[in-house]
Amino acid sequence: MNTLFTPITAGQLRLQHRVVMAPTTRMRSENGGVPGQLMVEYYRQRTSPGGLLIAEATAISPHANAYADAPGIFNDAQQAGWKQVVDAVHKQGGQIVLQLWHPGRQSLPELSEGYQPVAPSALTARETYGVGKNADGIYEGKLFPEPRELQEEEIPQLIEAYRQAAIRAKSAGFDGVELHAANGYLPEQFLLDGSNKRQDSWGGSLANRARFLLEVVAALTEVHGPGRVGVRISPSGIYGDMHDSDPAATFSYLADKLNDMALAYLHIIEPRIVGPEDREGGHYEEPVASRHLREFYHGTLIAAGGFKPEAGEKMLEADEADLIAFGRLFTSNPDLPARIQHGYPLAHYQRDALFGGDAKGYTDFPAYAQ
Ligand SMILES: Cc1cc2nc3c(=O)[nH]c(=O)nc-3n(C[C@H](O)[C@H](O)[C@H](O)COP(=O)(O)O)c2cc1C
Repeated sequence: MNTLFTPITAGQLRLQHRVVMAPTTRMRSENGGVPGQLMVEYYRQRTSPGGLLIAEATAISPHANAYADAPGIFNDAQQAGWKQVVDAVHKQGGQIVLQLWHPGRQSLPELSEGYQPVAPSALTARETYGVGKNADGIYEGKLFPEPRELQEEEIPQLIEAYRQAAIRAKSAGFDGVELHAANGYLPEQFLLDGSNKRQDSWGGSLANRARFLLEVVAALTEVHGPGRVGVRISPSGIYGDMHDSDPAATFSYLADKLNDMALAYLHIIEPRIVGPEDREGGHYEEPVASRHLREFYHGTLIAAGGFKPEAGEKMLEADEADLIAFGRLFTSNPDLPARIQHGYPLAHYQRDALFGGDAKGYTDFPAYAQ
């Protein structure tokens, strides 16, 4: 029976334990999306020998960003900044993949060189906020404007932008990349019929709606090789004003197709989570959880979302997933794997420091032994 501390090989990633750091946007990059020393220290602190870190959502294009001070991977300075993060993680025996992110309709023009957001269809993500800055440099939530429908000839260019980002991630030394296809961002906007009303070969049938995501995965795999690309999905997700007429059918189809892609892993956000928050009493037509998709996807599964260590262990015991990713707990417990292993108490996360700021609430959580 597997526990959180049974070693596992996920594609080409050889891991000593199964406590994964989930990608968490912390809005601490510098000078136009460049990871600086503060971020190097943050990731270094969270490294454990043989452990896997998934670095936060990172913009693949200067024309699409939703959070002020979120990092990018589309220019040399950003690549060099990430290399320092990766080197620090590798020096301590950890592994790290980069989450590649295009927010599509969830982009703020002020963070995107003035560009209007693009999406499969001109449908606004209602009641969803990005984080910009006001005239005094203070963060503030902002609604997304109406997106522009992508022209057919622009779509291969976007896939190419993912490929270029993957090349930069490889040059920076990352062990692989994770496609952010969750939480209502561009790949999911193509996939779900609530946000994709196209009538060309990128919309309509399930196969057409899944095409963008699958072609991006193929491009990433060409760059990094088999077993080094992960895909993150949120099959029960409603964050970003997302909906689908039949999520169970959509995601089981996708999971089945991903069997042929030689992934490192499929990463699934469980139904109890909406974006960065716990779901409050709401419901979704048909929650699709890891245990459902296990039937369709035969490779390595990471489950994420609202896990305490005990619940993660139970999930592994029941063989409903292979690894467990922790988000908020990792923000306040830099040595989370060791704390879980030794039964040390866990520190509660600091909500008001999650998104943006300085070292406070970011790199000042001590390891337990200190
Ligand atoms: C501060 C914060 C930032 C997040 N940023 C990302 C992100 O960049 N990419 C992503 O896929 N999910 C992101 N999430 C979602 C987490 O990865 C995770 O799915 C969610 O927090 C639920 O897991 P938890 O209960 O272990 O925190 C974020 C969550 C939080 C709290």
